[in-house]
Amino acid sequence: MSDKKIIAVVGATGAQGGGLVRAIARDASGPFKARAITREVNGDKAKELARLGAEVVAGDVDDPASLKRAFAGAYGAYCVTFFWAHFSPEREHDEARAMAQAAKHAGLAHVVWSTLEDTRKWVPLSDDRMPTLMGKYKVPHFDVKGESNGLFTDAGVPTTCLNTSFYWENFIHFGMGPKPGPDGKLAITLPMGDKKLPGIASEDIGRCAYGILKKGAEYAGKTVGIAGEHLTGAQMAAAFAKALGKPVGYNAVPPEVYRSFGFPGAEDLGNMFQFKRDFNDAYCAVRSLEFSRSLNPALQSFDAWLAANASRIPLE
Ligand SMILES: NC(=O)c1ccc[n+]([C@@H]2O[C@H](COP(=O)([O-])OP(=O)(O)OC[C@H]3O[C@@H](n4cnc5c(N)ncnc54)[C@H](OP(=O)(O)O)[C@@H]3O)[C@@H](O)[C@H]2O)c1
Repeated sequence: MSDKKIIAVVGATGAQGGGLVRAIARDASGPFKARAITREVNGDKAKELARLGAEVVAGDVDDPASLKRAFAGAYGAYCVTFFWAHFSPEREHDEARAMAQAAKHAGLAHVVWSTLEDTRKWVPLSDDRMPTLMGKYKVPHFDVKGESNGLFTDAGVPTTCLNTSFYWENFIHFGMGPKPGPDGKLAITLPMGDKKLPGIASEDIGRCAYGILKKGAEYAGKTVGIAGEHLTGAQMAAAFAKALGKPVGYNAVPPEVYRSFGFPGAEDLGNMFQFKRDFNDAYCAVRSLEFSRSLNPALQSFDAWLAANASRIPLE
């Protein structure tokens, strides 16, 4: 029987959890075995993870009993929630609570909880520099994650709160990539002014989480942050131009213009970018590149990510 310690991975068929399962699989002589949690144990993505050596088990964060079963007997877990699947902070809070309770029930030795800042600590609801959304949030998908940190720590679960960064894959899947303007010239549009946006290849989040789990007790009970690079809109546009071989500009729109774009989540994201812009030094400072690289020596730069992914970016 294997003496490897089991890491139960929520979201294993997705970006963050998938990166962790692949990092564990890549380190064949390492201390862990991944247990991939999915609602679709017979799906193609689950089969691929099994092929890499992961144990695949059924689990649904909306079904707390299934999570308790999926966490049982594990050493640790990676916990991530799914705001963009439903756009409900209350539901995301329920997801986090179900994971925290399952972790406590299983007596896990170490949980890495994928979180973000509760921006209301910097911008209280009374601050009208940005609108309050859904009655009690400034950046709903950030605030509820930060608020949920306490669900793990108050339950006494040895937890590393991992502040993640903007995925560069948003340029592929989230419609944020370079688009032609009225003059036909490509440009990216972000309400960041001349401030730096910490970004990361989503695969590197899981790889950094692996580094945290390997260090174990050193990071349990701590909050850490990661990023692949901190780049201004102008710097990202220049990198796009180099990778695509054509000019790419940067439209630095004001946050209120971004909030008015009308796509689902535009107000949330407009407030998010404004928070990152207005508290840029503090936001970047807790996402040290050196620290991220110490967890994950293969951490990708934006240029390296573009070299591998530019052909996947829709340009219209
Ligand atoms: N986009 C960004 O820039 C960014 C940056 C930082 C943080 N985030 C946060 O990342 C989170 C999403 O993580 P991700 O990007 O890794 O997700 P993802 O790639 O969208 O994948 C999510 C996976 O989780 C599983 N899942 C969805 N609902 C589930 C449920 N009810 N029970 C169990 N599993 C479920 C699905 O697997 P099955 O279908 O196999 O069950 C899916 O493959 C969001 O909360 C978002 O706010 C995003």
